[in-house]
Amino acid sequence: MDSSDFLDFLKTRSSVRSYDSVPLQEDDIEYILTCAGTAPSAGNLESWDVVVVTDDEVKAALCEAALDQAHVEQAAAIFVVCANYVRSMSRYGERGILYGLEDAVIACTYMMLAAHAKKLHSCWTGAFDDEEVREILDLPQHVRPISLLAVGRGHPPPVLTSRMAAGEHVHRDIW
Ligand SMILES: Cc1cc2nc3c(=O)[nH]c(=O)nc-3n(C[C@H](O)[C@H](O)[C@H](O)COP(=O)(O)O)c2cc1C
Repeated sequence: MDSSDFLDFLKTRSSVRSYDSVPLQEDDIEYILTCAGTAPSAGNLESWDVVVVTDDEVKAALCEAALDQAHVEQAAAIFVVCANYVRSMSRYGERGILYGLEDAVIACTYMMLAAHAKKLHSCWTGAFDDEEVREILDLPQHVRPISLLAVGRGHPPPVLTSRMAAGEHVHRDIW
């Protein structure tokens, strides 16, 4: 893949919020997890974990915890990506809170792009009740869920979302 293919790859991904009821192949799940495992992390501690949910009842409960966003129930799998503070804080103390979150965000980004590489659809879902998700999945106290990444086969929106001009984010040499 050359650099223009890479940009096209990024530009053709969009969040999908409508899914067909097609299960994910186990090798697709493995591919997504393998890609996430290549993500960089603070001190190479890989301070993230993921709960892969394919059970319909658990997805329905997660949907409720995610303010009834229907795609959470519809998608074939929900990758509940968590920061693991025990791992990050054991070396970095308070700073480890930030690093754990960053590690989890990068891993989730890799999962999202891995799904796209497999021509699957996804939706990063950040609006959810932390405590409800914690209870449904029996998460230990030392992890924090940062995203319910919905993955499956669905219907992308007809028009891709627009973006700010790249320059609007950028400051050179000083703010
Ligand atoms: C941190 C974060 C939280 C998000 N939470 C939600 C969410 O709860 N529900 C949802 O439908 N989309 C959610 N999204 C997806 C964004 O709405 C989407 O990425 C944005 O509108 C740009 O559209 P695109 O992904 O199609 O390019 C979230 C994305 C991020 C990065």
